Amino acid sequence: MLASIVKTKRIKPKNNRAILVESLSSLEVRDLDKNELAYIMKHHSDDQKSFSFNRFTHHLFVVFFDRKGKIHQRKEAYRKAGDTLNTLLKQHEIDKIQICDHTKEGMGLYFAEGIILGNYSFDKYKTKKDKSKLKEVILYNDVISQKQIDRMNISNEATYWSRDLLNEPHSTLSSTAIAKEFKKMGKQSGAKVEVLTKAKIESLKMGGLLAVNKGSINPPTFTVMEWKPEKPTNKKPLIFVGKGVVFDTGGLNIKTGDSMYGMHMDMGGAAAASTALFAIAKAKLNVHAIALIPATDNRPDGNAYAPGDVIKMHNGKTVEVINTDAEGRMILADALSYAQKYKPELVIDLATLTGAAARAIGKHGIVTMKNKDVNLKALNESSEQVYERLVEFPMWDEYGEMIKSDIADIKNLGGAEAGAISAGKFLEHFVDYPWVHLDIAGPAMLSSRDSYRGKGGSGVGTRLLFEYAQQMGK
Ligand code: BES
Ligand code: ZN
Ligand code: ZN
Repeated sequence: MLASIVKTKRIKPKNNRAILVESLSSLEVRDLDKNELAYIMKHHSDDQKSFSFNRFTHHLFVVFFDRKGKIHQRKEAYRKAGDTLNTLLKQHEIDKIQICDHTKEGMGLYFAEGIILGNYSFDKYKTKKDKSKLKEVILYNDVISQKQIDRMNISNEATYWSRDLLNEPHSTLSSTAIAKEFKKMGKQSGAKVEVLTKAKIESLKMGGLLAVNKGSINPPTFTVMEWKPEKPTNKKPLIFVGKGVVFDTGGLNIKTGDSMYGMHMDMGGAAAASTALFAIAKAKLNVHAIALIPATDNRPDGNAYAPGDVIKMHNGKTVEVINTDAEGRMILADALSYAQKYKPELVIDLATLTGAAARAIGKHGIVTMKNKDVNLKALNESSEQVYERLVEFPMWDEYGEMIKSDIADIKNLGGAEAGAISAGKFLEHFVDYPWVHLDIAGPAMLSSRDSYRGKGGSGVGTRLLFEYAQQMGK
């Protein structure tokens, strides 16, 4: 269950609480009794930085932080400590926790974020539910505004939703079912949501999306979500494009062995794009934003698209299919060229696009490419603040050689090397506006628990885009 953050002006001394401390000398004697204080003084060390006292009527936790590092690194330390505290809250079945935060930067907000994101669980299909009872994180700190708290609650809600979508199996999340989720996001946030049907997709000549969909018994969907406030800070819209492959079997180039397992997460880009737009609308940010989401599964079948096929895409370019498992770029390409009609200020696409991206940098960052019209500074800054860090890959012309085709304009597969980049170079053929490509194949799905990011769908991208839009709306 999603717990919410609330603000308080008064700590209730008989209720559960955690005290955040940045130096031993700032420990207030009125918070602790003599024995507790003596215990902390004796045992405090680099290895032991958190203390838990059972006061029978309630628990008291004391967590120490140092002030080392830059602000974004300190925020991350608070999130991780929040996640660690949450394991104790679970053990003690605590439903409400007060956070006494005396930092002048309001670090308690990130501590609360770590508690709540770390408390996520996907137990929908378990008969025995998760025993966490956490409902409320009560923040005591004057410098944190109600607006900051509201936005953090929205960010957490959006991240939970993104994770739920990633974790949902394919059998219950088809291309049409995911579009229904996007509709629901619209209803709950005030964003306008339109789902284009197969007939409309055909009339728009989205050849890439239709080709990938040919092996499926479900129709493709193409969802347009839009938030347009009265006087946005941006004249031209900010657009997110998300890869919505609800299941990737590889198609006729079928995935072998265990490599198909987990491929219901191949809509991680769609989850990030849609939930970020949901958050932007719910927070009523002063930013004109649009999310475009092509969705289908990729399967072998009597009618499935095949290696050697030549596909005419939405922008008229032709693509030779070398490998049907390189399907993400086929559906993204159509969405990227469709984005042109909005004359966007910036388009950011997100996709679990290549195993090569995951192999290159693992789960700790996002493989990033861009065209020359973009300065990454602002997005980079946001990415550090939410700790979803970008790693820029080159887009040199030479890489473009890899996707030249003998019979069509381009082909959908490069060589054995630099697979993430040749995918980026492919997409570049479909954009003529400022554009950033985020390959989230590494961090989208975590095979083991990574602090507050959890295990399974991490929801990567949602917080990044929401933070970026917040900065843009200022
Ligand atoms: N969805 C996969 C990429 C992927 C792989 C994401 C592993 C997350 C984890 C993509 O559609 C794909 O199948 N890519 C192939 C490309 C290959 C055919 C060139 C890959 O990376 O193996
Ligand atoms: Zn694939
Ligand atoms: Zn895929």
